[in-house]
Amino acid sequence: MIRKSVISSALIFAISFSFVECQNDDPWHMVQDILSRISPPQIPDRRCNILDFNAVRSPNDDDVEAPPSTVDANTNAFKNAIQSCHDLGGGTVYVPEGTYITSAITLLSNISLEVSSGAIIRFTRDTTKYPIVFTRWEGIELMNYSPFIYAFEAENIAITGSGIIDGNCDCEHWWPWKGTWSRQCWVTVPENQTNARNALFQMAEDNVPVEQRVFGEGHFLRPQFIQPYRSKNVLIENVTILNSPMWIVHPVLCENVIVRNINITSLGPNSDGVDPESCKDVWIYRVYFQSGDDDIAIKSGRNADGRRINVPSENIVIQNCTMADGHGGITLGSCISGGVRNIFAENCYLDSPNLDTAIRVKNNALRGGLLEKFYLRNIRVGQVAKQVVEVDFYYEEGPNADFVPVLKEVFIDNVNVTGGAPYSMVVKGYPSPNSSYIEMTLSNINFAGLKNTPHYIVENVDSINFSEVKVQIWQQWNTTDESSSAQSFGASALIILGITIFFNILVSLN
Ligand SMILES: *[C@@H]1O[C@H](CO)[C@@H](O)[C@H](O)[C@H]1NC(C)=O
Ligand SMILES: *[C@@H]1O[C@H](CO)[C@@H](O)[C@H](O)[C@H]1NC(C)=O
Ligand SMILES: *[C@@H]1O[C@H](CO)[C@@H](O)[C@H](O)[C@H]1NC(C)=O
Ligand SMILES: *[C@@H]1O[C@H](CO)[C@@H](O)[C@H](O)[C@H]1NC(C)=O
Ligand SMILES: *[C@@H]1O[C@H](CO)[C@@H](O)[C@H](O)[C@H]1NC(C)=O
Ligand SMILES: *[C@@H]1O[C@H](CO)[C@@H](O)[C@H](O)[C@H]1NC(C)=O
Ligand SMILES: *[C@@H]1O[C@H](CO)[C@@H](O)[C@H](O)[C@H]1NC(C)=O
Ligand SMILES: *[C@@H]1O[C@H](CO)[C@@H](O)[C@H](O)[C@H]1NC(C)=O
Ligand SMILES: *[C@@H]1O[C@H](CO)[C@@H](O)[C@H](O)[C@H]1NC(C)=O
Repeated sequence: MIRKSVISSALIFAISFSFVECQNDDPWHMVQDILSRISPPQIPDRRCNILDFNAVRSPNDDDVEAPPSTVDANTNAFKNAIQSCHDLGGGTVYVPEGTYITSAITLLSNISLEVSSGAIIRFTRDTTKYPIVFTRWEGIELMNYSPFIYAFEAENIAITGSGIIDGNCDCEHWWPWKGTWSRQCWVTVPENQTNARNALFQMAEDNVPVEQRVFGEGHFLRPQFIQPYRSKNVLIENVTILNSPMWIVHPVLCENVIVRNINITSLGPNSDGVDPESCKDVWIYRVYFQSGDDDIAIKSGRNADGRRINVPSENIVIQNCTMADGHGGITLGSCISGGVRNIFAENCYLDSPNLDTAIRVKNNALRGGLLEKFYLRNIRVGQVAKQVVEVDFYYEEGPNADFVPVLKEVFIDNVNVTGGAPYSMVVKGYPSPNSSYIEMTLSNINFAGLKNTPHYIVENVDSINFSEVKVQIWQQWNTTDESSSAQSFGASALIILGITIFFNILVSLN
């Protein structure tokens, strides 16, 4: 019979350190200031029903495709309803019950797209129907397929209603363009994004003008799902979003953005849930995530193109979100060359055997960027598949380049992990001569059910301040030497910090 036991060790580190001055301001006070600048767009009280613009319902709600003439009719119905409502001064473009198969939709200023209960907007799989627009792909500007719902330099735009927006992507449509994928569900196809992705990255390094970076048909770069570009006063609420080609809610260079009460379910490759990129004043709350990549990933451009545009993401508040499947739950990076600051996340619940990491930072020495002022508190974690906290500076291109990453002022407070994880923390910076910088504080953390010995990998870190961090190791109870099973961050932290640390280890057995 197998008996399980719990061994706890409480670690309290006090680092002897002389501070010039004590921090007197609680950074969380900033949340009020950020939220006071954020408000939903005011949309005039006018309604334009797409049926009045000759939209055509599909015979069955589960129809995945429509004749080209129907797709064209619906594409024009959305276009004309939006244009006409905009010309009248703005209002709500109303999608009544029923399924409408269409190509891309472009929102204009002062327009709310309301997907009513029982309505489904489903996007055609005919890639030739999507126009080429100015967009940003994995952090690089280019001309590519229009995102399924797009806006450019618009103000006061919304997507609302409790209906469904279905990207209609699957293992045979759009997703195979990824090429090779860890959870590949397609047979190998000759057409994939590899050549175009490399070409785009090279163009960005060579500073080729964006209007000459033209992709689209024949290049296999999947569009994003919802992308307001250089827009302000944006609201996305209540809708369910399914099966995206790649990144899902992707505001770029936007200001005053609210994403609330939506359900994101898409298990495809690069299905990041919400990716604010070079945005400021963003409020994400009560969002449910089940995604094939990161759930939330804050971005600010990639490599040379990110530095050319050089706009950070800042002042982002994340509250009351639920994360199921994903790679990272709450993530910074990896396209983060413009930097990031003032990110606040609280009251979230993350739990899935298919969620790799709860709190994730990824970067490398080609991306660079200053990552600072990342605050998390009151986070509940069930189980995760890899580690609770990860800082990975070896992501993709890795350490051999000039833009050595910096991560500082990360405060993670009041986190309970109850469902187990292989590792508590995996934090990897660079050694000299190209030393990176990593500084973080973890306080009031209960890590339970850690499966690996040791339960952490911490390398080349400048400072980690642990305060009231408790660790519980789950293992088969087959040794009498209880203390030898107790794990701590102690020894490793001592070596890494290279400064004086006083610590106590309290071991108690349940
Ligand atoms: C470590 O973190 C705790 C809790 O946030 C704080 O009270 C303490 O001052 C920090 N110590 C140092 C040396 O930063
Ligand atoms: C949006 O509506 C507001 C208020 O009616 C108006 O002032 C503004 O010009 C409109 N914006 C555009 C781009 O049409
Ligand atoms: C979104 O849902 C909330 C809660 O169900 C509701 O109060 C709100 O009115 C909805 N918004 C719209 C625009 O329908
Ligand atoms: C992706 O495309 C490249 C270049 O055409 C090709 O060499 C590679 O085999 C393809 N990969 C897959 C998984 O199909
Ligand atoms: C989200 O939507 C998916 C797909 O419709 C559904 O299975 C799931 O129950 C929804 N989750 C929540 C929390 O609403
Ligand atoms: C988040 O949840 C807390 C606790 O349930 C609640 O007090 C708060 O109003 C919620 N905030 C938002 C923005 O939903
Ligand atoms: C974590 O557990 C402690 C002790 O049970 C409790 O005081 C704290 O509120 C919990 N935190 C969260 C985020 O649930
Ligand atoms: C240090 O950075 C330089 C480029 O700046 C690179 O060539 C070299 O390989 C790096 N060294 C290590 C050990 O990563
Ligand atoms: C202890 O458990 C491990 C892992 O299950 C097993 O390999 C080992 O034989 C056990 N040792 C004893 C003494 O039972």
